[in-house]
Amino acid sequence: MTNIAIWASGTGSNAQAIIDYFRENDHVNIAMIVSNRKQAGVIDKAVKEGIPYVYFSKNQIDTNDGVLDKLASSKIEVIVLAGFLLKIPSYLIRAFTDRILNIHPALLPKYGGKGMYGSHVHQAVYDQKETESGISIHLVNEHYDEGKILFQASTDLTPDDRPSDIGRKVLELEHYYYPRVIEAFVENALPQAD
Ligand code: GRF
Repeated sequence: MTNIAIWASGTGSNAQAIIDYFRENDHVNIAMIVSNRKQAGVIDKAVKEGIPYVYFSKNQIDTNDGVLDKLASSKIEVIVLAGFLLKIPSYLIRAFTDRILNIHPALLPKYGGKGMYGSHVHQAVYDQKETESGISIHLVNEHYDEGKILFQASTDLTPDDRPSDIGRKVLELEHYYYPRVIEAFVENALPQAD
């Protein structure tokens, strides 16, 4: 069984899709939700699902004030970022080398990097009159959105698609593929113990 912590700052619709997918799964256990925002929708979801959650302030995360200890005591092996908006500090990347996944709502390397999150991404795709967008699921390294890409999927855009339509199409891909890529990652990249 692989214990996963989902880190999210916002609504948590991806977190919910991942929780739903792995309910009663033999290999993956969503063991913890971490958020840097006390009011984040994802915390309500954790409560409803009976999944332990922890709030860490930006400062606690930046200075490792209890972060690695908490992850270790819950035997977390993989961190899944799902709309987590703070930079991941180096100590965490070192402790979880090739064990932190992120999803980016565009086809990297386009529309990535600092400031490219949420609606900013879809607005930029719209402004450039792109005919497609999509998702990129990647490992996290020390540079925003530059870790190894594990998976991409695309969706066609029409001239009628407003930024909000682009966001809706991309989110649909996220909800479908993120759990499945996590599953494949756990099965292929991590040793399996029952
Ligand atoms: C998603 O678009 C994800 O790709 C991005 O942040 C958004 C999170 O949405 N990194 P939600 O909180 O999962 O609904």
